[in-house]
Amino acid sequence: MGALGFPAVSERPSRVTGKHGESEPGPSGRGSGQATRRSPSGTAEGQEREATTELEFPDGFVWGTATAAHQIEGGNWNNDWWAWEHDPASGCAEPSGDACDSWNRWEDDIALVGDLGLGTYRFSVEWSRIEPEDGEWSAATVAHYRRQCEALLARGIEPTVTFHHFTTPRWLAARGGWEDPASADRFAAFCGRLAAELGDVVRRVCTINEPNIVATMGWLLGMFPPGKSDHDLRLRVNDVFVDAHRKAVEAIRTAAPGVPVGLTLSMTDYQATDGGESRRERMLRDMEDVFLEASEGDDFLGVQVYTRMRLGPQGILPAESGVPVLDMGYEYWPQALEACLRRAWSITGGRVPLLVTENGIGTGDDLQRIGFVQAALEGVLRCVADGLDVGGYFYWSLLDNFEWAFGYRPRFGLVAVDRRTFVREPKPSAAWFSSVARANALVPSS
Ligand code: BGC
Repeated sequence: MGALGFPAVSERPSRVTGKHGESEPGPSGRGSGQATRRSPSGTAEGQEREATTELEFPDGFVWGTATAAHQIEGGNWNNDWWAWEHDPASGCAEPSGDACDSWNRWEDDIALVGDLGLGTYRFSVEWSRIEPEDGEWSAATVAHYRRQCEALLARGIEPTVTFHHFTTPRWLAARGGWEDPASADRFAAFCGRLAAELGDVVRRVCTINEPNIVATMGWLLGMFPPGKSDHDLRLRVNDVFVDAHRKAVEAIRTAAPGVPVGLTLSMTDYQATDGGESRRERMLRDMEDVFLEASEGDDFLGVQVYTRMRLGPQGILPAESGVPVLDMGYEYWPQALEACLRRAWSITGGRVPLLVTENGIGTGDDLQRIGFVQAALEGVLRCVADGLDVGGYFYWSLLDNFEWAFGYRPRFGLVAVDRRTFVREPKPSAAWFSSVARANALVPSS
């Protein structure tokens, strides 16, 4: 899974607390700060000629940053995650509480995105606020999200809106949530109504964020709600999510024709060492391919990548010696983005345009963040040079926010948030990312 700290050493369910402290001292993991100048033609002459232009992204490349409702809004007490965070048996580090208070401070967030000069902002709506009970629709909540979209549009920023980002209303979770095949139709009905009400102000819709992570963490590893460990159930949840996505796409297209719609998928650079090949195949099948295949016909596929995972005959291998381990318990491996983009492109037969809807690093070392993103973007450029249709890059995340079972410790933000006053303070990486986005090209970090 990309981001969420898949158990580093074994495939057995484990609790968050057990996953830290496996880090080995090693290089800082900072990038070189130098972009690779590589010629698509591969010739020395080509390198000479193109050296100044190859750090540029194609015209129209979209630059953005991303957040999710439960991680920033605060007070989202009516969903399955709130209950989970407050269950001492769940192993969660701490509850989300007020998060970044973005329910009240969303205008500050939008101003930050505007100051960064980004073309799009990806955020999610909280279903449990829009439908606090089955069949009760909160017009005031939808109006709240409409105001956010309108404020973005007024600044020339495209709203990219995710309709489901990990959290499920309590009333739906109570009747089986994503185990229940009926949830697919229920979700599609929600999507259709919301798209009808917001279709004129959204510019891109992501149906379900990382269904593979929700299914695996919730139904196999027991680290997300509902905390189950059942192989067959996990496969069933995969299928319900595929059905929910397909039905949601249809409902959104009917209600809001012309708005691009797609899935956002967590991808990992799975690498087999001798004897780990069949494990890798299985992992790819259940974690990725079932969803990559389900993206057929979509307007885009959101690729979300954070790291690699090495698999040996006995299971997941620990970090390789010399490779830094991040706060999330996995390796610093910015090269993973390029590998996953290439794989997504190949499995989908090059028929679905790609967007990097999430890539980032949880670190207290902001220079390490710049090095990570720089290296990841160099990989994006190589993909583009090889003809892959990669249309944009969203950095995860705008803010230091609630990192699910890990609480507030991992810091993914371009912007720090004071946990007591909620005052936002951009980090140096924010200025660097802004200069890359404005130049539409990799620029040296200063
Ligand atoms: C999720 C985010 C999460 C990020 C970093 C992704 O898997 O979509 O909600 O915060 O990774 O772990």
